[in-house]
Amino acid sequence: PEHVLTMEDWGREEIHELLDKAQDFANHPSKLPSQRIYAANLFFEPSTRTKISFEAAERNLGLDLLHFEADTSSVKKGETLYDTVKTLESIGADVVVIRHGKERYFDELRNHINIPIINGGDGCGHHPTQSFLDLLTIKQEFGMFDGINVVIAGDIFHSRVARSNLEVLERLGANVFVSGPKEWMSEELMERYVPMDEAVEFADVMMMLRIQHERHAVKMVAGPQKYHEQYGLNEEKAQRMKPTSIIMHPAPINRNVEIADALVECGRSRIFKQMKNGVFVRMAVLSHVLENQQGGLLR
Ligand code: CP
Repeated sequence: PEHVLTMEDWGREEIHELLDKAQDFANHPSKLPSQRIYAANLFFEPSTRTKISFEAAERNLGLDLLHFEADTSSVKKGETLYDTVKTLESIGADVVVIRHGKERYFDELRNHINIPIINGGDGCGHHPTQSFLDLLTIKQEFGMFDGINVVIAGDIFHSRVARSNLEVLERLGANVFVSGPKEWMSEELMERYVPMDEAVEFADVMMMLRIQHERHAVKMVAGPQKYHEQYGLNEEKAQRMKPTSIIMHPAPINRNVEIADALVECGRSRIFKQMKNGVFVRMAVLSHVLENQQGGLLR
């Protein structure tokens, strides 16, 4: 795809090509650009991993960064997102990465902006590069997706990670289940619901999610300790997981809420591996969109 906005835009073959490209970056030193290329990262919501790993990916590819800080930009004077992106394009950005609180913010941009847009997260909508790094982590572990049991547990309803992953993992052949408070499940999600006690015993991948307090209009279903006991992954539950099963989490983590502190860096955990893979998939995504643009900017 010209832009990278949702996982639905990516076919099976394209996904595997992108993952191979990311794996290639994981295995080999970075490529150098054949000319000066400018990237701008426009983050209107907080981020540590996505923002910094895009920066690392851009630097690894030899791109030049045009710094943008929402709080000190003319957005504060009322400039719209469209005018902001159009301005960056006019100044010379070759690619923009955008994180924004508005779901599908990219719909007003995609047909009017002539440089690739990479979605770094849109409200409760999509987070395609998180999906790619999760897919790469699962592929590295199991070599395939067919028949892998993935349980996504926690605040599914508010999670753009869950939404992106659920659709694409199923399309790639995985069996996808959800767990967590039923109050946070839609009718559709309830069709694939499993209680945590059962989930830990058959899951190949336990994908734990953070409770997104910032997106909750309603009161929490339980206090942190009660939530941990009922819906979180504790050491007792982790002991019942299959020997080959892994634990994932997109982070940031609420330690001792959705996952026990002791499990975050345990042998089964791939949480920091996911973050490392984030740099490689973002290099692959940047390289993909720049190669597509004007017949390729990277050597
Ligand atoms: N997983 C993730 O998107 O983390 P950040 O919000 O820190 O970027």
